[in-house]
Amino acid sequence: MSSTPPPTDRPRPPRTAAVIPAAGRGVRLGPGTPKALRALGGTPMLIHAIRAMAASRAVSLVVVVAPPDGAPEVKHLLDEHALPERTDYLVVPGGETRQESVRLGLDALPEDISAVLVHDAARPLVPVDTVDAVASAVRDGAPAVVPALPLADTVKEVEPAGTPGEPEPVLATPVRARLRAVQTPQGFDRDTLVRAHAEVAVDGEGATDDAGMVERLGAPVVVVPGHEEAFKVTRPLDLVLAEAVLARRRANDGF
Ligand code: C5P
Repeated sequence: MSSTPPPTDRPRPPRTAAVIPAAGRGVRLGPGTPKALRALGGTPMLIHAIRAMAASRAVSLVVVVAPPDGAPEVKHLLDEHALPERTDYLVVPGGETRQESVRLGLDALPEDISAVLVHDAARPLVPVDTVDAVASAVRDGAPAVVPALPLADTVKEVEPAGTPGEPEPVLATPVRARLRAVQTPQGFDRDTLVRAHAEVAVDGEGATDDAGMVERLGAPVVVVPGHEEAFKVTRPLDLVLAEAVLARRRANDGF
């Protein structure tokens, strides 16, 4: 008799999942469809973001966190669009804040997931090389990895005015060379991120940055180079830029 255990008993290699919080309403883009479902080049922003994660061979599962009442619609959307078949997909309903939505995504992860990328649906055009770089830094042992870029603008810390448009007193000017603008996907050792979501309380609208929660645990966070095409689609002008990036990619693919 063979002593080889049946395949289900063999230990499986640890896997990486991407969690995509996509439950925001995107009010800064103006009225209309929820931001993640807005079309870019005729395809919903969320589908671009899912494809960007699934394009990485490191990612074997994508968990999409849908608007609280929008999971069936998002599932339907995933069925309608071609997605890589080697990747698994899950859709779960989100929460009131981004932080809650990420936690609900983490709750849905199967046991064999040991590393997690958290990627905003609002960054639909992140190149696969950036995703790969973050995933491999986590696999190499970093508990938290953030892609980021140096700043073009000098930044001032101010005392925010009570009324928009009022002059605001400047408190400080941080040294620009030491500042980075952070993007997603942010990558984490799963246990570290789960602990951060369990232990770090954030008031008000919740954490907008998962790595910030890990910093508050006292765990090390490192930055790797981000990419200019990983920008966040927030305001109407960002949609124009995103369409231009897509048009440039299509033109380049044609050659
Ligand atoms: O609003 P903001 O652009 O910072 O949102 C960042 C990401 O978090 C978006 O992809 C948005 O869909 C998501 N989000 C969420 N649940 C919320 C609020 C935001 O998944 N309640």
